[in-house]
Amino acid sequence: LLSGCGKSDDVLVLGTNASFPPFEYVGGASGNEFKGFDIDIARQIASDSGKTLKIQNMKFDSLIMALNAGRIDFIAAGMTITPERQASVNFSTPYYEATQVVITKKSDTSIHSITDLRGKHFAVQLGSTADIMAKKYTDKVTAFNSGFEAIMELNNGKVDLVLFDSQPAANFMRKNPDLKIQSLPFAAEFYGLAVAKKNPQLLQQINTTLANIKTNGQYDTLIAKYMK
Ligand code: ARG
Repeated sequence: LLSGCGKSDDVLVLGTNASFPPFEYVGGASGNEFKGFDIDIARQIASDSGKTLKIQNMKFDSLIMALNAGRIDFIAAGMTITPERQASVNFSTPYYEATQVVITKKSDTSIHSITDLRGKHFAVQLGSTADIMAKKYTDKVTAFNSGFEAIMELNNGKVDLVLFDSQPAANFMRKNPDLKIQSLPFAAEFYGLAVAKKNPQLLQQINTTLANIKTNGQYDTLIAKYMK
């Protein structure tokens, strides 16, 4: 039986923003395959629920709206659990610990502590925790739909730095030899999968799958596969 946007009962629709390697990105032999740590976890959740996974790639800042409008069933997007987001969605048990890092040109030696961020021109991903954090340090924040674009802006010398999640930042460094990462003592962030408040059954299924993959070794295998 079909309901809404072509959703059927045997399909589980994942919403993501596939510009966040190694958690979600587009790649593979055909160049248009969804891949990553979150994607593999989402596939396991679908398989444990006896459903087929369908993936909707969208802007990061549209995910929560799409979830609450019923266009997607859950979000796996390296999304940090925050009190503000918890007001509108339910999060799974945390599945990954991250932190924000600062990316600058290698030649930039002006940043030694968090206070040195004051007044700098930041590039961030729109709607991310970095976007919110940046505004605490400066009123010069340019927000992009992807980290790639933020990095490009830094490479082009239009901003001073990019504030981004640690693991994707490390991933971007491989293709950007003129940039460096600086770790500053920012608070830890915990990623969670998000589900609409009106869907407690799916939340329970997700938490069960997360608990299972932690006990059966699959979680560690995924860490080894994606976190380099
Ligand atoms: N962890 C950060 C946040 O929740 C950034 C996540 C960006 N994820 C993505 N798939 N683009 O705001």
